[in-house]
Amino acid sequence: MKHKKTVLITGTSSGMGRATAVYLAKQGYVVYAGTRTPHKLFDIQSENIRPIHLDITDFQNIEKALLYIPKIDILINNAGYGLVSTVEDVTEEEMFAQFNVNVFGVLRLCKAVIPKMRHQNDGIIINISSFLGKIGLPLLTFYNASKYAVEGITDSLRYELKDFNIRVHSIMPGFFDTNFAKDNLVMNAKTFEEDSTYATLVSTLAPTIVEQINSGNDASEVAQMILEIIEKEDSPARQTAGDKAKKFIPMKKELSDEDFERRVRAYYHL
Ligand SMILES: NC(=O)c1ccc[n+]([C@@H]2O[C@H](COP(=O)([O-])OP(=O)(O)OC[C@H]3O[C@@H](n4cnc5c(N)ncnc54)[C@H](OP(=O)(O)O)[C@@H]3O)[C@@H](O)[C@H]2O)c1
Repeated sequence: MKHKKTVLITGTSSGMGRATAVYLAKQGYVVYAGTRTPHKLFDIQSENIRPIHLDITDFQNIEKALLYIPKIDILINNAGYGLVSTVEDVTEEEMFAQFNVNVFGVLRLCKAVIPKMRHQNDGIIINISSFLGKIGLPLLTFYNASKYAVEGITDSLRYELKDFNIRVHSIMPGFFDTNFAKDNLVMNAKTFEEDSTYATLVSTLAPTIVEQINSGNDASEVAQMILEIIEKEDSPARQTAGDKAKKFIPMKKELSDEDFERRVRAYYHL
């Protein structure tokens, strides 16, 4: 590589963010590893991996962090978590927080980075969405809505930024064995009460989803896909990663909404 390209990734203390930081650094990229907890990156810190404190819910903090980054060639919006709640039980705070991180966090980073990319007439933005950005599931309405929004952001920005030579892509992972189920699923207390109106649904679905995440694909698969998108100018707008996404997304495209829903109901016993 002639000149080392600079990457900013959000949410790098674990999972796909961390795996991508390590993988891209090995390929010679300079990675600014955005995180709320820089101390968790001490073991991977190097000339090519530079941990940087980043709170994606705070625009001023983002602007301050960007002062330390001379140039951003690639932005990877990866940070996110999953709220597990029925719609009737959710609190105002929980529902706002889900969008504040998964949607407004992405938009804040884009807002801060786009002017830099526009001035250099060059840039790539990769949003880590989910296959649940195209497929709904009960108890995951807020996570679904946030990831559907990320898909919309990707589609709109592709038009908005095309003239400035800024490419925008999304990756829709299926289930991946990261810290997601262990640390980053937030359960609504009422939905998960033993005598909840939704107790049957919770006991049917929640353990299965957790199990599927914990036995999911390896985060390195997403890291490799990200490298491919960076290096191939004609990469598709969006791609699926992992077994479950590769199974369900094509099925969703082929079947009617109702037939697809029947398949999902049968699969998850809903
Ligand atoms: N694992 C899956 O099955 C799966 C499937 C589809 C999509 N995804 C998506 O993939 C992305 C990466 O997740 P992962 O699987 O690698 O999970 P992970 O290991 O839990 O990593 C998620 C990262 O997001 C950041 N984060 C979590 N909660 C946050 C909050 N409240 N505010 C700000 N940042 C927060 C954290 O970064 P810091 O602590 O460094 O700030 C965390 O390391 C997420 O957007 C997730 O929605 C995951």
